[in-house]
Amino acid sequence: MKAMTLVGKKVPLELQQRVDLTPDPGQVIVKLNAAALNRRDYWITVGLYPGIKPPVVLGSDGAGIVSSCGDGVDGVWEGQEVILNPGIGWGEDPAVQSDQFHILGLPEDGTFASEVAVSVEQLHRKPDCLTWEQSAAIPLAGTTAYRALFSQGNVKSGEKILVTGIGGGVATFALQFATAIGAEVWVSSSSVAKIDRAISLGAKGGFDYREEGWEKRFAATVGSPDLIIDSAGGPGYAALMGLAAPGGRIINYGATAGAPESIDMFKLFWKQLRLQGSTMGSPDDFSNMVDLVEKCQIEPVIDAVYTLEDVNQAIDQMRSSPQFGKYVLEIS
Ligand SMILES: NC(=O)c1ccc[n+]([C@@H]2O[C@H](COP(=O)([O-])OP(=O)(O)OC[C@H]3O[C@@H](n4cnc5c(N)ncnc54)[C@H](OP(=O)(O)O)[C@@H]3O)[C@@H](O)[C@H]2O)c1
Repeated sequence: MKAMTLVGKKVPLELQQRVDLTPDPGQVIVKLNAAALNRRDYWITVGLYPGIKPPVVLGSDGAGIVSSCGDGVDGVWEGQEVILNPGIGWGEDPAVQSDQFHILGLPEDGTFASEVAVSVEQLHRKPDCLTWEQSAAIPLAGTTAYRALFSQGNVKSGEKILVTGIGGGVATFALQFATAIGAEVWVSSSSVAKIDRAISLGAKGGFDYREEGWEKRFAATVGSPDLIIDSAGGPGYAALMGLAAPGGRIINYGATAGAPESIDMFKLFWKQLRLQGSTMGSPDDFSNMVDLVEKCQIEPVIDAVYTLEDVNQAIDQMRSSPQFGKYVLEIS
């Protein structure tokens, strides 16, 4: 097998030839046809992620065909086309993951490889309506968007919502999912071209979050969003608290721009805001997300497809976030 392996901190991933994998009891081996990148992979390669222990094969998203089953695994899985749930060990509580929870692709070897060993519990039938590349694009980002919007954000048809930083992989799924259930979706971005792409996917419009006072123009022309889905945090978080409708919810699944400079406690209690964190998703979030994708025929937004061997180019691109949607790897 071949694998793009993290061999040290802040160095490009290295192409390694390894012995073919064999499954432990309860595991299967999946021959991968496609994988996808997440900002997590970028954070790891630049040393900004906890628990980095090279050597490890990165990659949390993958789609492929089960090639062998370990002891205790029902043989019907052999030959099945599957996608992988990258969340491992969520536990019993739908409200929060267990302390055993971790993500495929650190510490366990992940999907930037021609094959991967996973527990049979991580398998999910590949949606018929999606190509291999589209299938690989959905697991981590789709689950994160689903949980933030539905399980935490309780989004309803007709609500006004804002998805910030719409170029992001999770953000584009949030836009597509919320539009699919009839919410009125607005976006923010650093790029007019990305706002236009978002409008072509069903957004009502968007604002450039780098412009001073954008949130005041938003409130004056659009009104206040009931729900904000944000992964940036940072200095711009204060604007989101000002913009949210009274009784509104702000759901954060990331902090790309770092910590907010301050939290306005007066706004928090007077507007009765709910600030809610969200991480990945439970097994139910994962399968509900796949059901939604199939039911609403959602086509994942793929910015570019690279070969497995060119994964370092895709990771380099993520430095300045020019993408709209996902970077995917095709694996031959
Ligand atoms: N908690 C979890 O389970 C979980 C899961 C997935 C991701 N995350 C985190 O969520 C973040 C996004 O992940 P991703 O994979 O979707 O990343 P991504 O595809 O690399 O997208 C990053 C996007 O962030 C936006 N952005 C950057 N600075 C911003 C700012 N100051 N204000 C608003 N938007 C800003 C940009 O949008 P524009 O290009 O439109 O400006 C950029 O395209 C990362 O920090 C990631 O680590 C967390």
